[in-house]
This record gives sequence, structure tokens and C-alpha cells, in this order.
Amino acid sequence: MSAQEQPTITSAYRSVGVTFEALVCNSTVFRDTLRLAAGAATKDVAILLLGETGTGKNLIAQAIHNASRRREKPFVSVNCSAIPDTLLESELFGSEKGAFTSADKLRKGKFELAHSGTLFLDEIGDMSPVAQAKVLRAFEYKQFERVGGEETLHADVRIIAATNRPLDQLLAGGTFREDLFYRLNEFTIEVPPLRARREEIEPLVQHFIRECNERFGTRIRGIDPAAMTRLKGHPWPGNVRELRAVIKRATVATPGDTIRAEDLRLSVAPTSSDEIVPPGADSSLAGVEARHIEKVLKQTGWNKKESSNLLGISRPTLDRKISEYNLRKPT
Ligand SMILES: Nc1ncnc2c1ncn2[C@@H]1O[C@H](COP(=O)(O)OP(=O)(O)O)[C@@H](O)[C@H]1O
Ligand SMILES: [Mg+2]
Repeated sequence: MSAQEQPTITSAYRSVGVTFEALVCNSTVFRDTLRLAAGAATKDVAILLLGETGTGKNLIAQAIHNASRRREKPFVSVNCSAIPDTLLESELFGSEKGAFTSADKLRKGKFELAHSGTLFLDEIGDMSPVAQAKVLRAFEYKQFERVGGEETLHADVRIIAATNRPLDQLLAGGTFREDLFYRLNEFTIEVPPLRARREEIEPLVQHFIRECNERFGTRIRGIDPAAMTRLKGHPWPGNVRELRAVIKRATVATPGDTIRAEDLRLSVAPTSSDEIVPPGADSSLAGVEARHIEKVLKQTGWNKKESSNLLGISRPTLDRKISEYNLRKPT
């Protein structure tokens, strides 16, 4: 497929430059993760990336593509949680002109656009079972039809899928088709949360300060020790994405050339491994997450855009969590 044939959704298949070497890595666990991913990259197997939001699944998927024999071909990504179920099928498989009221022209789907390259199905745990069945068929038999189309099309894609949902929960709840899971599960890679690799916080901070200096023309030289201690003790429910957002804001907010603890505006007190959960409080990860989200919402006056930025999650994910945890704006 030539570049001229890809007119509409350009951002989805811009050539991606992320390589394994470009990822900040300073811990044994994450090094093992990357080694596993780099090993699988050259084998053309389907890969399932599991890990909390913001842990780097997206970057790893790009790095895998760039280390594979498909690297010169398109890398196309689809965020399954951001697309309503009614639109997902046409997004993935395309639609013929006139397939539905707004279909004023033929639109290629992501499978077609990814032909001979890699298709990254992000947040696949949020895909409906019906859509999953169609993906399985397209994947297994390399065949599909555009919405409203008769012709059977063929595409050769390597699939990398990712989800932030715990797998056992997905399978037990019946929300994830086992047949698709076993097909995708040719190779599963778990990406550890940031709190399981705190050695990475310091080099990530340096990395993000450099990145911000380049982007904003700031001249931040570093971060003071008290601020670093805060960062190292933070639970990071939004993982690396949250850390990046915090550094970005601090870089812009700080009046001097060094980031101080007060520039971080971290919304929760630092935790240490021996911190005691208040009696009666739900100390499950979900419970901690719910409380953290509530605090951030309170801090922003329930400004969801700002809250999702601070938390390092997307708006739809925030909305989902708000309803999942039954969080209510105080009246
Ligand atoms: N190892 C890393 N090195 C550098 N930046 C990282 C790393 N991991 C994550 N990031 C940053 O965190 C952000 C979120 O990563 P992403 O791959 O989108 O996470 P996920 O897909 O798991 O939600 C990225 O924009 C990137 O800037
Ligand atoms: Mg992601």
C-alpha cells in the first residue's frame, strides 16, 4: 500500500521511531520485560501486553514493531476503549460508501491499513464479545469484509494487543472470549507497575526534565532531594504517564531552575512500605485506586479533563472508573 493511499487517519500510522534502546530502564524486572519483548519481536507471534495504565505498553508495542521484520511497514493502532462499539467494526474493517448514513465514501479499516505491518489493539479488554469474534476471524483466517461490503478482503497483520485489566478477571467475568485469548496469548508479557520498579523513577525524572526543556524551552537543571524523596514514595497509580504529567507541570510551574517538592503538587501523601492502612479502609489495589481518584477529583473540583491528565488516564477510562467505583460529586 503506498503512502498516497492512506489519506484520512494519518496519525495512526505515522512512522514510529520508538526503539527498545530509547526506553528508560534501570531495574531488573523491567529489563527482563524488555528482554522478553525484544526476543519475541523478531518471531512474528501475536503478543499480549498486560499491565496497568501508563506502564509503557504502547511504547513497547512500537518498539516490538520496530525490531521486527515488519518495521518498514505500517504500525497501526486502535484504542478499543475510545471507540463506541457501534463504530468499532467499521473502524477495524472499514466501510463501503453508503454502508450507513454518514458513510459518504469508502473508508479503509485498520486491518487493511495495517496490511503487512503491525496492528496494535489497545485496551482490547474493553472490546465487546461480538467485536472480539470478528477480530478473531480476521486474525485467524486473515479475512474480513468491510461494513456494507460483500467482497472478502485479505490482510496479513501481526497483532499486538494490550489491556490494563487483570486477565483472570476478564476471563472469569466472561467479557473476554477464551478462543481469542488463547490465540492472542501466543506470547504474554507482563509490564510491571512503576511502584514495583522504583529504581526507574530517578532516570525517568531526568529523562522527562530533558524532554520538557526541549519542548518548552525551559532550563530546568534538576530536582531537589526532598522532591525526589516525594516522588520515590508516591504510589503512582497512573504509573509512568502520571510521573511524566507531574514533571511536565512542575517544569512549567517552578519559578527557579530546580524542581522543589511544592512544585510537584502531588495529591496524596507519600507512602512507605510500612505505612499502615487505616482500620476499616479497603486496602485492595482497587480500593486504593478509588480513593486516589476521588482525591484528585476533589482537588480539581471535579474537572474531569484536568483529573484525567493528572491521573495519566484517558477521559473515557476516568468515566469508566468513576462509575465502576460509584464515585459521586459532593453536592
Ligand atoms: N520506559 C519508559 N521510558 C520513557 N518513557 C516512558 C517509559 N514508559 C512509559 N513512558 C512514558 O509514559 C507514557 C505512557 O506510556 P504508554 O506506553 O502510553 O503506557 P500504556 O500504554 O501502558 O498506558 C508515554 O507517553 C511515555 O512518555
Ligand atoms: Mg496505552
